[in-house]
Amino acid sequence: MERYAIRGGNALEGDVVISGAKNAALGILAAAIMTDEEVVIENVPFVNDTRTLLKAIENIGATVRYIDRHKVAICGAGIKGDEGLAVDDEYIRKIRASYYLIGALLGKYKYANVALPGGCDIGARPIDLHIKGFETLGAEVDIASGGRVEAKATELKGAHIYLDTVSVGATINIMLAATLAEGKTTIENAAKEPHIVDVANFLNTMGANIKGAGTDVIRVRGVARLHGAEYSIIPDQIEAGTFMAMAVATRGNVLIRNVIPKHMEAISSKLVDMGARVIEYDDCIRVMADGALRATQVKTLPYPGFPTDMQAQMAAALCLTDGISMVTESIFENRFRYVSELTRMGARIQLKGNTAFITGMPKLTGASLVASDLRAGAALVIAALAAEGVSSIESINYVKRGYEDFDAKIRALGGDIIITDSDSELEAFKRGMSVVKQKA
Ligand code: EPU
Repeated sequence: MERYAIRGGNALEGDVVISGAKNAALGILAAAIMTDEEVVIENVPFVNDTRTLLKAIENIGATVRYIDRHKVAICGAGIKGDEGLAVDDEYIRKIRASYYLIGALLGKYKYANVALPGGCDIGARPIDLHIKGFETLGAEVDIASGGRVEAKATELKGAHIYLDTVSVGATINIMLAATLAEGKTTIENAAKEPHIVDVANFLNTMGANIKGAGTDVIRVRGVARLHGAEYSIIPDQIEAGTFMAMAVATRGNVLIRNVIPKHMEAISSKLVDMGARVIEYDDCIRVMADGALRATQVKTLPYPGFPTDMQAQMAAALCLTDGISMVTESIFENRFRYVSELTRMGARIQLKGNTAFITGMPKLTGASLVASDLRAGAALVIAALAAEGVSSIESINYVKRGYEDFDAKIRALGGDIIITDSDSELEAFKRGMSVVKQKA
């Protein structure tokens, strides 16, 4: 089983280039099948979640062609979208974003039958708001046996939809279906994340008529059909934030390239509160930290608030500050599973309800750790890079879902990290021997 072996203690220094946004890519790749013409998408992150979704799309009859590692041509003409098409394979159940195929297929064919989504275990993650949205547009939706969602409509009609909870997935899914509905749809209390805007921009490039994405009211005027397009995905806000937290935790100096600094404001401002220096340029951010840093308070909120997807990484950095920090999770119920692992490294964290109270320490110590989900895995990597001694982190398949070449990017910044599936290699790494020459 593959795991990371990390020797902590090096301050990370240098440049890192951020990949395309995973969560925007997942919406965009699903949307790409809504036209029968070819769509070319650039800056697709080469991570397991996007590759899994592309395999699922291919399995239902679309053509998927990698032009290069980050550029994919997709043509949805071969999909037999009539009743009977069931999207259920080993791929689709693995990922959360499989639910976008419901909106995309329902919009295009007025029929979708898709296995219920998987994804990281970070809470209950219901899809009632997606279903309510499709029903309001005129679809009949059944949760069929075997954990599948079947949605069908004779026609989809634009409607007024109010989301009780701000939901990224429901906002995108309803936008997808409404794009090919008849008439005007209004989504109120919509999510405002950068990837909502990116998916809307992509749909508009294909001929959709969507206004207001990025505000809490999105207006979609349905169109009869969509056409081919070329599009480049925005940089990943969370990957960038993860490297920012890593630079701070290791007291390093990192230039994070290919970012949209505006998307990073909630994260940057917390790092500045802690005493780090954050310098914004047009499309990059430099993050520097040295010496003692201060504790702070973080509460996750929908965008433009502090992202839940950065909660764990921030908590890891806060373990190495002066004072007591409070980290409150308000989006998902089960996003503190990394706490017990950080505790094994010597961190002092007390969980009370949905708040972690972190008493800062001068140092953490390397330990054998297990990642419980994607962002928890990233947080453990940050803690291990900042700790004294060697750590090993198991279940890195979670991390590979969402971070492209994570280990290689960290090595290029001077972090001592390898991937190994051999116990003897791990033991040799612990003894300080250079066991493998993994490329920077
Ligand atoms: N919710 C409902 N009903 C619904 C949908 C959501 O009650 O029908 C609730 C959820 O339980 C949660 C809140 O609404 O409490 C927000 O959930 P949201 O729908 O926004 O989350 P998601 O669409 O399931 C996406 C990302 C997550 C990210 C969240 C929040 C994808 C594929 N996933 O999930 O990404 O944490 O938005 O920003 O886009 C990750 O990348 O590590 C990750 C987990």
